[in-house]
Amino acid sequence: MTGPASTDPRLAPPSGRGLDGAAEGGHRLRGTDSVRRMGLIERYIDRLPFAPSDPIVSLNEGSTPLIHAPRLSERVGADVYLKYEGLNPTGSFKDRGMTCAVSAAVREGAEAVICASTGNTAAALAAYAARAGIRGVVLVPDGKIAAGKLAQALMHGAEVIALRGNFDEALQLVRQIADAHPIALVNSVNDFRIEGQKCAAFEIQEDLEGQLDALCIPVGNAGNITAYWKGFRELHAEDPSVSLPRMIGFQARGANPLVRGEMVANPETVASAIRIGNPARWEEAMTAMTGSGGSVSDVTDEEILDAYRFLAREEGVFCEPASATSVAGLLKHGAGIEPGSDRQRIVCVLTGHGLKDPQTAMDESTPVIPCEPSLQALEKVLIR
Ligand code: F0G
Repeated sequence: MTGPASTDPRLAPPSGRGLDGAAEGGHRLRGTDSVRRMGLIERYIDRLPFAPSDPIVSLNEGSTPLIHAPRLSERVGADVYLKYEGLNPTGSFKDRGMTCAVSAAVREGAEAVICASTGNTAAALAAYAARAGIRGVVLVPDGKIAAGKLAQALMHGAEVIALRGNFDEALQLVRQIADAHPIALVNSVNDFRIEGQKCAAFEIQEDLEGQLDALCIPVGNAGNITAYWKGFRELHAEDPSVSLPRMIGFQARGANPLVRGEMVANPETVASAIRIGNPARWEEAMTAMTGSGGSVSDVTDEEILDAYRFLAREEGVFCEPASATSVAGLLKHGAGIEPGSDRQRIVCVLTGHGLKDPQTAMDESTPVIPCEPSLQALEKVLIR
């Protein structure tokens, strides 16, 4: 359904440039088009359910860097890259899905959006609802979301409801509310979320020229792995020379329903973003992993925190604990590399920025060093 085009200047339609960002005629001016980061819908409008005249709610999300990880590559014996999704506008991959879900909701005339969240979806919803000028409501598990995410949701003016329950209960409740009232549900059960998130697969294949062997990814509610698999399949269907990577999902040991093959009633993990016991996209995630020759396995909180510190200290990349699950899993379980095969290319998705969860970062670091304001005191601390 397409409503009337909005007159709100914040909801500008895409400018209609080509996929590579070049203006008609191919001429680029330094400092304008060549360094401008396009929004996700604008960049991939040909592959998304939007028309150029649609109102688009964007914060120039997507186009995140794919960073080579030399030390991780050495440990694994493969070429490993990090898809650093923490560099999206609100600091997580959720912005990709949210630009699509909120744009579609606005197109359909919604005046309010709602989600259940372990934190990142809440932050993204809050920002995009603010941008759209509509009401944003988030249900989060009380006391179980990282400080940065809560600060974002509150600062963007969302109504934040702390549920005395877990994510799975919150999701059940928002589904019921959205069925009964005119409020749009933008959890990843909403297909527009999957459409937006699939675009990360396009970016990776563009950067790697279509040659990727395996994707390692944390799995919580299972929307993201579903989205990547859809993106890879779409590219492969158009051009069979583009590889279909093995989809390797990792869960935290205390929140591992896909590994166990049954719901986890009381999920627990330091990786609060993936503290989920009953993923909404369960079947699709399993199809992605089995259909691609991949797998699902789990890692302990200790292994997650080891990978979290390793990435920060050895690669200079700060992600949140849930994101480090992809690297912890790769280090522990590998990525299905057959002995004797050619050197493989692996991408680990780092789903959220480390600044989201300052408390865990400080808990996992050495304390600050106190010092009196004198040269002597400073030398005593520094010169060993
Ligand atoms: N990593 C981070 C940082 C996340 O926030 C999430 C999910 C995931 C991984 C897992 O992705 O759910 O698509 O399998 N966070 C959701 C939220 C649940 O509410 O922010 P998934």
